[in-house]
Amino acid sequence: MPYTTVGEERVFYTYHRGSTPQAPQVILVHGSGGSHRLWGSTVRRLGPVAAYAIDLPGHGRSGGTGCRTVPDYAAFLLGFMEAIGLPRAVIGGHSLGGAIALEMALRHPQRVSGLVLVGTGARLRVLPAILEGTLSSFEQTVELICGYAYSPHTSRELVHQGQQQMLHVTPQTLHGDFAACNAFDVMDRLEEIRCPTLVVCGTDDVLTPPKYSSFLAERIEGARLEIIERAGHMVMIENPGRVAQAITEALANWQP
Ligand code: COA
Repeated sequence: MPYTTVGEERVFYTYHRGSTPQAPQVILVHGSGGSHRLWGSTVRRLGPVAAYAIDLPGHGRSGGTGCRTVPDYAAFLLGFMEAIGLPRAVIGGHSLGGAIALEMALRHPQRVSGLVLVGTGARLRVLPAILEGTLSSFEQTVELICGYAYSPHTSRELVHQGQQQMLHVTPQTLHGDFAACNAFDVMDRLEEIRCPTLVVCGTDDVLTPPKYSSFLAERIEGARLEIIERAGHMVMIENPGRVAQAITEALANWQP
């Protein structure tokens, strides 16, 4: 499993070698308190699409500390692309990762050949109970977040696993991630985005409701919207088959 270095820090990522070399390459970015593991079951089903799944600083197996703003995470992602010698890529992101992807498309459009926006939005205000609770009562707040993050149709075992994984980040990192979300707002800039875009959301997502995804798909020219039944905010682990299918179908027509 590969590591690279961005700034002073070791950064962990996985690489899925797609079966179609001329297809665009995708970098998948997890959300608040997550890691590359959240994309594992989707990546295994990507077939022709080559995909990197990274651990943001302070998350998973990467070193360093988490950032506190979306622009800082976007600067990190640009550093990652430089470190692995990737001039352009499709940026795919879940929740906070989707905000980072949007920021990349707005700040560095020449580096972004497309966007995959999963369970995210152009503004990501966070419930005060989540934002404040990450520091004051970490474990209870992780339980609260995971209570909201999955569809009622999703197995309790999967919810439990997600909860255990989120407990691996520090309270400071999780708080920084949610502070980054809370300050993020590009609602009035979406028309500037010109790259092909896929927007994916679960019908039962209450953290970034389907309304947020419809807004993205209406404002980003030519964007394709995929709403997935019986899935919540963690749609890519609740229904990885449908998410992988949506990505491979969309990317089949995109240029690198
Ligand atoms: N796309 C489209 N519409 C959006 C939006 C987005 N990304 N973000 C907010 N809006 C809409 C809201 O639906 C609301 O519309 P309404 O007035 O018609 O109901 C309006 O913009 C204002 O919403 P918001 O900016 O969120 O402020 P608020 O004070 O109304 O609500 C919260 C604040 C935190 C209660 C609310 O954002 C919320 O419930 N968030 C989801 C829970 C959460 O913490 N998610 C974590 C995200 S990482």
